[in-house]
Amino acid sequence: MSDAPTPAAHTSAHTIPLPQATERMRAQATASYEADHDEVNRVLLLYSGGLDTSVMLKWIQEEYDAEIVTLTVNLGQPGEDYEVVEGKARMLGAVETFTVDAREEFARDYIVPAIKANAIYGSGYPLFTALGRPLIAKLAVEYARRAGCDTIAHGCTGKGNDQVRIESTIATLAPELKIIAPVRSWAMGRDEEIAYARAHGIPVKGGTEAAPYSIDDNLWGRSSEGKWIEDLSHAPTDDVFQLVTRPEEAPDEPEVVTVTFEEGVPVALNGERLGLVELLERAAEIGMRHGVGIVDHIEDRIVGLKVRDIYEVPAATIILTAHQELERLVGTIHQNQFKPQLDRQWAYLVYAGLWWEPLREDLDAYMESVNRRVSGTIGLKLYKGSVRVVTRESANAVYDAQLATFAESGGLFSQQASPGFIELWSLQSRMAWRLHHVDDGQ
Ligand code: ARG
Repeated sequence: MSDAPTPAAHTSAHTIPLPQATERMRAQATASYEADHDEVNRVLLLYSGGLDTSVMLKWIQEEYDAEIVTLTVNLGQPGEDYEVVEGKARMLGAVETFTVDAREEFARDYIVPAIKANAIYGSGYPLFTALGRPLIAKLAVEYARRAGCDTIAHGCTGKGNDQVRIESTIATLAPELKIIAPVRSWAMGRDEEIAYARAHGIPVKGGTEAAPYSIDDNLWGRSSEGKWIEDLSHAPTDDVFQLVTRPEEAPDEPEVVTVTFEEGVPVALNGERLGLVELLERAAEIGMRHGVGIVDHIEDRIVGLKVRDIYEVPAATIILTAHQELERLVGTIHQNQFKPQLDRQWAYLVYAGLWWEPLREDLDAYMESVNRRVSGTIGLKLYKGSVRVVTRESANAVYDAQLATFAESGGLFSQQASPGFIELWSLQSRMAWRLHHVDDGQ
């Protein structure tokens, strides 16, 4: 490891490159909700157990001489051991530690509305992080109040959308609480952080020279950022895929999976009724096996930057594909033309960190109304990364096999009426064509 640059010239062995609490290093509050140095006494830290938030746990104690209460939120991050995370928090000096299993709430109140809105941002991001942040921040508010904290600390950088989502949630729900975001203000580089961690007995996973990908994951998907991903000319290296089997290694036999919905909510897989969380986990497993849900995405962040993300979203790919198909089957041509515009607006609002904006409630009311009819079953064939709809079934389908095959059946549809329709349907276009092309070919 290279020697980290030292911001303060004379540092004792003990305080290595830690940016000292000098005026120079001290973050200036820009927004009203940011804490001034003296206001920080008891801090609720959103703690993941990773390097950034572990360094924060120590750093805040030193920098502010404050007590730390940690909150770790389980949104279905695969393979996380929350007891280990809590133990680590206590070991690093947290005076109280909380872990909340928020999977049910996340699925019911955040993922389900996203399904009803077919929520995709850009060209394939199903918003799993964007959906999780307002819930995490809402829980931070609840636990900060419960534990008598004056300040909430999070580990977001100043380059991403997550700071926007978390801080706007806290500022909306709890104007009395202050916020600090040390990673945004402490000016430590990766090497300095690792040196700081070493000097403070914070376990550092893996090698130091190879910085890991920046990962965020939950029930609805997983993102990787950083390293070669920032090089747009670099095709994905296999080690980035920790969830989804590479399509070329997926089984040679396709698998058909059916998803059943009631009023827009997925309730069964392959005919088996399952609770939401389990259904989403199972859908992810099936998709992962077949290489489904890899997205290589260039994204317009709301903070201005363009960023490339590698997403693994097996559950979302299966469920959203099925939902959208069923919704279109039960909708009229007019509804089906209109809803994608609102879907897009919903996704943008949530991406942009405005979960609590009343427009979302307005949009949700429309989504609810449409989804009252979205009941039925869609069959999907999964094969080496692809998902293709193969069967559809719904009592609400605006579809009649008789009408489509037998011209005169039932009197609702008549082929004889078609020429009259075409004459009127094309009337204005024909008139305009004549006007605009009056001189053509003469
Ligand atoms: N780009 C995505 C978003 O803005 C994913 C962010 C992942 N967050 C993270 N801290 N790694 O929602």
